Amino acid sequence: KVERRQGTIGRTVFHLAEVDSTNRLMGGLARDGALPGTVVVADHQVAGRGKGERPWFSRPGEGLCLSILLSPKRPIEEVPQLTLVIAVAVAEAITRATGVQPRVKWPNDLLVDGRKLCGILCELLSSADGDVHHVIAGIGLNTGLSVDDFPGSLQAIGTSLAIESGRAIDRFAVLPVLLDHLEAWVELWEREGFAPVRDAWVRLSCTLGKDITLESEGTRCHGVAVDLGIDGSLSIRDESGEVHHFHYGETRLSSA
Ligand code: BTN
Repeated sequence: KVERRQGTIGRTVFHLAEVDSTNRLMGGLARDGALPGTVVVADHQVAGRGKGERPWFSRPGEGLCLSILLSPKRPIEEVPQLTLVIAVAVAEAITRATGVQPRVKWPNDLLVDGRKLCGILCELLSSADGDVHHVIAGIGLNTGLSVDDFPGSLQAIGTSLAIESGRAIDRFAVLPVLLDHLEAWVELWEREGFAPVRDAWVRLSCTLGKDITLESEGTRCHGVAVDLGIDGSLSIRDESGEVHHFHYGETRLSSA
């Protein structure tokens, strides 16, 4: 099914009942010349990809699994910021569409009271000429899952829009709001750089001021998250008082 909407993001939307991974499928579409802004959304992924080569599970029809092809008009060294741009856009869109107020965990998870609502996986596609870079932004948002879908200890870890709002969620009502916010935030970042995104991210953060553990490329750092840099990097002050800056990594909150 192919739909059209105004704006660049989502001008072409491919909607599939089932796919292995929307990010993987988008990789093929991009190599075949798909235009930036193309969106793939699936009712079900049988091999969804998460960060760190982990699988991403969803239940058929109970989540929004989508990938967006982007061609960011910023220098390549700033492209890692895009993941924070998307986190802010998705968090705002969720609040607009449902009233649920997620917080952002560096670099790009959305949590409600420490439970994960949405994961984001940005993958950079290398281009032959090195000039134009494409990014596949994958978003996995739990919409309809109920508490029974999170058995035992998983209830402390995961959540959904239905659980948090206490009502049934029409994921296809959330999708256009999501695409509108993504369009607006990506445009703002392309035009003005990271500063306005940083302000919004800091406002939405559940990472800053917290005791966290960060793992990045085989190293581990434990301390208090003290700042988000103007380049999107996270600063952590360890027990000895030394401040470390990270551009990549995964964080765990000691107390959410
Ligand atoms: C994470 O580990 O938190 C990131 C999860 C990203 C999942 C989404 S679902 C749509 C897109 N396609 C994939 O295979 N993964 C991303």
